[in-house]
Amino acid sequence: MTTEPHKLDPVALLKGLVSLRRLTGLYPPGHPSIEQKLAELDDSVQRHIQLASALRLDVIHGSAHLDGVPFRQDSEAQAQILRELTDLGVDSIHIRRGVTRYELLALSEFLWQLKEAPSGEPIDIQLATRQIVHISLGRLVPLDTRWKTVQWPDGPTGPLDPSYELSLALTERTFDDVMTGRGIDLGTIREIVHLLIQKVAASNAALGQILAVKLYENLTYCHSVNVATLSLLIGKQLGFDATATAALAEAALLHDIGKTRIPLEILKKPSALDKRERKMMEAHTTYGAEILVEVDGLRPLTPTVALEHHRGIDGSGYPELGEAAGPHFLSQLVSVADIYEAMTGARSYQEPAMPEQACLVLARLAGTKLNTALVKAFVNAISFFPLGSVVRTDRDELGVVVRTVASEPLHPVIALIGADCQRVPGEVDTSIRLISGQYERHVVETLRPQEGLDINQFLVAS
Ligand SMILES: [Fe+2]
Repeated sequence: MTTEPHKLDPVALLKGLVSLRRLTGLYPPGHPSIEQKLAELDDSVQRHIQLASALRLDVIHGSAHLDGVPFRQDSEAQAQILRELTDLGVDSIHIRRGVTRYELLALSEFLWQLKEAPSGEPIDIQLATRQIVHISLGRLVPLDTRWKTVQWPDGPTGPLDPSYELSLALTERTFDDVMTGRGIDLGTIREIVHLLIQKVAASNAALGQILAVKLYENLTYCHSVNVATLSLLIGKQLGFDATATAALAEAALLHDIGKTRIPLEILKKPSALDKRERKMMEAHTTYGAEILVEVDGLRPLTPTVALEHHRGIDGSGYPELGEAAGPHFLSQLVSVADIYEAMTGARSYQEPAMPEQACLVLARLAGTKLNTALVKAFVNAISFFPLGSVVRTDRDELGVVVRTVASEPLHPVIALIGADCQRVPGEVDTSIRLISGQYERHVVETLRPQEGLDINQFLVAS
């Protein structure tokens, strides 16, 4: 039986390598699981090399290429495999004819150790000392993956909703005050909470700026204002009264205040954190609770939410509080908003996810880490194509979502984008149907906002 080189699935190969790498970290040498995975990997590599003399796997812009030909990847699981390699700083693996099973095993072990104890020695020397001579790894930069970082602006650019802008400024000052030891000013917190409830969460322009993809480095204070606003949408969906709403806004606004004690080089590190750094980062939850219990006049659940917002309903996450201690309902609510916000925001090493991708992640976490009812309430509140999303219709029109209707989550009202990114006057209701009952239009995809497009101009005009 022969396998044509172009039929080989590079993602399956990478997956084999990634799982072999994990197995070598988990089990002692010679364990049957390692042997079996190694035999499978060796088999597919050898078959390919017999025909093509070399096997070149490259990860370019997050997608797998086999011998220079891009390969389709469909699932989040596949993307995860690629990320696992690129997180290690590996974005190409070239295997030449003559490679032995031993070399594949040694490579897996090497990749495992790389994560825990990266060495400063050039990579080809490290491979050679392990007698790996038929494999080369490309662009391997342990501890430093800055080559692939993107410079995002430090905060939202362009004109903002005035109340949203003011909340951002006041929150930035609050975080600065805590960082420099001046403490929390209760009056300012009350002012921000009031603004968020009365103005920001009620403004379509502000919501559009928070819900859509955010093309800026998601600094803690922006993230906090955004999470508080998104939490308010869930609270509203659940019919929270005025007292519960105020408690929710305050807790969500201050949930990450503990990050003021985390060194900036860790907060803004342009690559994945190592074990020690991750531990330091995780401490922001306990730091937050410590800071907040000291402040007289805050609502009782505010420190609780800071402590628990990274804990899952199944007892997973951090800090370790024992399985019996399930997170408070308010903490569970803020977790949903927090995950969505973090995913749709940019980091130097992370492109922002589209709203629907972020919702799919929430759906996957529902029932284990997240409370299913809260995920549903959130997705219902923001609708399938949230305000501010740039979408394309099946008539090939581009538009910005300016209004959503709960009964028609897939058919929002959009304002069309004309020449020079200007708003075309009027609105298009994609939920309008023809006499036949068919929809006149369907939204077919969400797009990243193009350069020069001012979403705010679209939202304000509606
Ligand atoms: Fe957090």
